[in-house]
Formats: sequence, structure tokens, C-alpha cells
Amino acid sequence: MSPLCRRYLWAMGIDVWVRRAAPREAGGAPDPGGRAGEADGDPMGLEAMRRTVAVCTKCELHRGRTQTVFGVGDPHAEWLVIGEAPGAEEDRQGEPFVGRAGQLLNAMLAALGLRRESVYIANILKCRPPQNRDPRPEEVASCEPYLMRQIALVAPKVILAVGRIAGQNLLKTTTPIGRLRGRVFEYGEARCPLIVTYHPAYLLRSPREKHKAWQDLLLAKKVYRERYR
Ligand code: URA
Repeated sequence: MSPLCRRYLWAMGIDVWVRRAAPREAGGAPDPGGRAGEADGDPMGLEAMRRTVAVCTKCELHRGRTQTVFGVGDPHAEWLVIGEAPGAEEDRQGEPFVGRAGQLLNAMLAALGLRRESVYIANILKCRPPQNRDPRPEEVASCEPYLMRQIALVAPKVILAVGRIAGQNLLKTTTPIGRLRGRVFEYGEARCPLIVTYHPAYLLRSPREKHKAWQDLLLAKKVYRERYR
């Protein structure tokens, strides 16, 4: 297990047992310390993490949830979409973006030539805040190690942060979304390109802003093509 993996486990409050002198054959494969619980039996692949998150009580939001909403999609997706937090429908179904905003998100992805199943979708928070209020800083802090680990495991080529809450929390800024969108940021040690755009729920209320979201999506596609094709 890599030091990074161990750090995440520690941040999640999970005890890590380490064999004292782990035998490794000369020339044996190094610990990849990375992706989604692959052949090395990484104990914190996405599925193991989903089970950990399902019983999480690190913040008060666990009291009001029907269930956690971990994330959905291709565990090796090239595109990672990050939203804010589950709403009522997501809390009921246990899947992100399944309400009206989710339908619009699906349409936005389809416009880019992406199927929902081919991307990975997660949220800043895994539990629904009451009355869909904004996430509190302590809730975001509690949930952050889960999201960071998800990002590391999926290892996407592009991150699309939808909405102010996702953009500001991922970039650790208070800059308004109007000044975050339309730009290319880099996220984490992997310097993964990150593009912020409007939240589909906002676009449902303000359809006139859809053309700006479309520009953001085109920007994301351009970055993806330039870097990886
Ligand atoms: N809004 C979000 O940000 N995430 C969801 O999963 C649903 C609505």
C-alpha cells in the first residue's frame, strides 16, 4: 500500500494493519498505490470505499439521510463530473444527479458525445443537507478525504466541476463562479485539467445562461483533445 493510500485511510479514520516485513520477490511488481482496487487487492478500491462511506457518521448529516450517495459510473472514466451534494431524489435512490438537474446533466454530457455510464459522477458531499442548504465547511472537510480518494482512484483526464460549491471547494477559493467558469485550472499533483461550469439546477432556473455552459463544455472538450488525443 502506498503512503498516499495510507494517508487517505488515516484521514478516514480507518485503522491500517501493516505486515512487518512484507515479503516481495526480487523483481516483483511495485505497489502501484493507485487505481480502483485492481489486481493488487488494494483494500481501499472504490467498492470498499463505498461500503465505508455507507456507514459514515463523521458529520451531522448522517442523521437525516436515507442513504449515502457515493458516486456512479465507469471507475476508470476519463471524465469526472463533480457536483455539490445529493438532493431529495438522490437521497432516495442513492445515486447522484437522478432528478431534473440530472436529466439536464445527461443532456449536457450527450451534447459532448459522452454517455452517462462512460463518465464518473460524484459530489462534494455524500449526504443530503437538510432542505438542500449549502454544505457547511465542517461537512465539506469531513467528506473531503472520500472525494480526494475517489479522484485518485478514477484518475480522470478531465474534471468538470458543476456549480459554485464544487468549483470553490475543489479550488479552495471564494471567487464567484462567474469568474471561475471559462478557464482551465489544474487539480492536484496529477495536474488534472479542471473546468468549472454552471450547475444544471441553476441552468434550469436561468436557461439564458445555457450558452455559457455550452462554451465551458466545448472548452473542456478542447482541453481533453489537445492533451490526450
Ligand atoms: N445536485 C448535485 O449537485 N448533485 C446531485 O447529485 C444532485 C443534484
